[in-house]
Amino acid sequence: MTLLDPIAAESLREASIPVLETERLVLRAPRPEDAENIAMLANERRIAENTARIPHPYTLADAEAFLAAANRSDRETTFVIALTEGTLIGACGLELRDGPGTAGLMPELGCWLGVPYWGRGFATEAVRALIDHAFTDLELEALQAGARVTNPASRRVLEKCGFQWTGVGLYRIRALKSSAPIDRFRLERSIWASLKSWGRSRRVA
Ligand SMILES: CC(C)(COP(=O)(O)OP(=O)(O)OC[C@H]1O[C@@H](n2cnc3c(N)ncnc32)[C@H](O)[C@@H]1OP(=O)(O)O)[C@@H](O)C(=O)NCCC(=O)NCCS
Repeated sequence: MTLLDPIAAESLREASIPVLETERLVLRAPRPEDAENIAMLANERRIAENTARIPHPYTLADAEAFLAAANRSDRETTFVIALTEGTLIGACGLELRDGPGTAGLMPELGCWLGVPYWGRGFATEAVRALIDHAFTDLELEALQAGARVTNPASRRVLEKCGFQWTGVGLYRIRALKSSAPIDRFRLERSIWASLKSWGRSRRVA
């Protein structure tokens, strides 16, 4: 598969969404009963203003609409992020979006966590699991991601996961009703594979 090839439709459908387990987290397909928790966590301006499509204020109806649409299109795959004991703490996913220039559609990674869960390494842990899923189960060749230039935490998460800065761009931010400058990042399968094998050799050493 090359960067420009479309992703096989079946590979991103709800039926194929696995449960991804990490040391402290479970990433799973969203369920209708998640609506109240999603609405409570996502109703936060700092989340809305750093993501493309989350409105602010964020209501129960917004959460229900999000859950009704999640994983219905072959252009996206959405997970909720929960602690291993079950508490829902955020969401993450991949979506085919325009890449920079003439790169065509590329899978883009996004993630948000409820504020009480910030600063404990949960986003890094979840994003690493999502990246592993993208390069193993979905067999993707590269991922892109964007972070507002005013969002150092997001940038740091991406860099810790191996993403490399590729330039700047503009994102339409729904909650701002305008566009905002972003840093663009990219992670190639080859970089991911090198980081994985380096991590394995460090554990053995
Ligand atoms: C961005 C976000 C996902 C990070 O979640 P998190 O669980 O706190 O992230 P982690 O704890 O895994 O890592 C955060 C890193 O950023 C660093 N960081 C946090 N605030 C920072 C700041 N103001 N300046 C510099 N670094 C900062 C942390 O120190 C940590 O790095 P370290 O491990 O090297 O110390 C979370 O803040 C969030 O949901 N924000 C709103 C939505 C968003 O921005 N999503 C990303 C764009 S899609």
